[in-house]
Amino acid sequence: MKEPDLISAGSMIMKDKYGRIIKYLRLSVTDLCNYRCIYCMPEEGVPKKSHSDILSIEELSEIAEASYDLGITKIRLTGGEPLLRKGILTLCDNIRRISDDIELSITTNGSLLPKMAKDLKSVGVDRLNISLDTLDRDTFRRITRLGKLDQTLNGIEAAQKAGFDNIKINTVLLGGINDSEILPMLSLTKDNNIQLRFIELMPIGITKSLSDNLFVTVKNIEKLLLNSAELTVDGVARVYRLPGYKGSIGLISPMSHSFCERCDKIRVTADGRLKPCLHSEDEISLKGLHGNELIQAIKNGIINKPMCHKIDSVGSQSSRNMNEIGG
Ligand code: 5AD
Ligand code: SF4
Repeated sequence: MKEPDLISAGSMIMKDKYGRIIKYLRLSVTDLCNYRCIYCMPEEGVPKKSHSDILSIEELSEIAEASYDLGITKIRLTGGEPLLRKGILTLCDNIRRISDDIELSITTNGSLLPKMAKDLKSVGVDRLNISLDTLDRDTFRRITRLGKLDQTLNGIEAAQKAGFDNIKINTVLLGGINDSEILPMLSLTKDNNIQLRFIELMPIGITKSLSDNLFVTVKNIEKLLLNSAELTVDGVARVYRLPGYKGSIGLISPMSHSFCERCDKIRVTADGRLKPCLHSEDEISLKGLHGNELIQAIKNGIINKPMCHKIDSVGSQSSRNMNEIGG
């Protein structure tokens, strides 16, 4: 097996054993959420973990710093709902102080943005992804179980007012629930500089049983766009822009189109476990590690990142629900 390359160039570049450069860390800061999306969380919610079982703000900051030292330049804070986490602004501030070279983003359901968007901007958050699966009030309630459509729409507006541009909207496609809304959703990109991302439902945790009935491929949307829109690639998304539209449409197809060969991510769960692959059960505990031990553990996770998941054949091997991993 080829030895991983460690090239020192200001900041290190870290490759896994298959030669993929790993530069993206998704850090889950809580597994709790004020919504209960059917594809993510059990209806009854999840028991609150004790303080000692989740990473503290200091530990999260240390993991961010150690990762940066290993070549990570993109950090996304996820949940659960990351804006529910006490100390989230301090964490963002700490990460921003590590380096201006870090692209810091957050994936949120948007409900707390009306009161937090300005502060997030001022502590140096660069970008936001906001989950919005439908523009219909009743469907929004059916999908999120506890959410109100206006909370998320107000959140998007607050984020734009606070100066966030290039907001990405995450829409998980759910057959028979929101797939009749593709055209009205597409029209959101006409006058808004947003990227609307249609994501294929992944059978992970509780979604395993749902997905047989609800899975729809994004290929159908791609057929609609192919002739009229221009294609570029942005990470895992194939991005189309309709002529004259301000925003763009991203298609993310983990199921119908694997992107493992280009994967540049590692993930850390709220309880402090490094997951080199979303769908693998392999985890490395980072809780209680500091300094060189922490760096070695993260390095170990990067080097041993599996080549590919087998989600389309044997399904996800991870027993966790999405609220523990953060997408
Ligand atoms: N399949 C696909 N995407 C999911 N997300 C959550 N659960 C799933 C799933 N089972 C995505 C949502 C949300 C983000 C946190 O993760 O788009 O915006
Ligand atoms: Fe909460 Fe997001 Fe999961 Fe929905 S998808 S339950 S908003 S963490």
